[in-house]
Amino acid sequence: MRAIYPGSFDPITFGHLDIISRSAKIADELIVGVLKNNSKSPLFSLEERVKMIEEVSREFNNVKVVPFEGLLVDFAKSMQADVVVRGLRAITDFEYEIQMAQTNHKLAEQVETMFLTTSLEYSYLSSTIVKEVATFGGDISQFVPELVRQKVLEKMEERRRV
Ligand code: PNS
Repeated sequence: MRAIYPGSFDPITFGHLDIISRSAKIADELIVGVLKNNSKSPLFSLEERVKMIEEVSREFNNVKVVPFEGLLVDFAKSMQADVVVRGLRAITDFEYEIQMAQTNHKLAEQVETMFLTTSLEYSYLSSTIVKEVATFGGDISQFVPELVRQKVLEKMEERRRV
């Protein structure tokens, strides 16, 4: 089974890594699809996000990181993936996720969405929260890998300088 785990990953957190490691055990091959998100004005460029994910997911030998733009179903088809994986943290995620899964299924019947419930210890975590904490000088070491923490701090420093 070839699965896609899509997202913005701006930046990748321990919550994302939890989903990657668990779905990499279920799928034969896992493609982490990184959205080139023009509308959201991300903290990290697409290339930076891809590189960070590659570095922190190096230990999984069936995981590949691939950027994409446009519709997720088109990306899934181009990768010949059968399944889209998404993490569900809380009931608040559910409405948006089910809408996305059903829309994707309408657009491409062969694309199934598989939900993994995020491990309890990461259920509160999001890239947005990580950026918020870092903006105000908080410690993000429990939320992201060390390499990512350093990159976030560098970005914050860059921003302070301009
Ligand atoms: O990490 P995110 O931002 O929650 O990931 C959202 C993502 C990338 C899965 C979603 O925005 C997406 O699939 N975007 C591609 C455009 C698309 O296919 N939209 C229709 C799905 S409703």
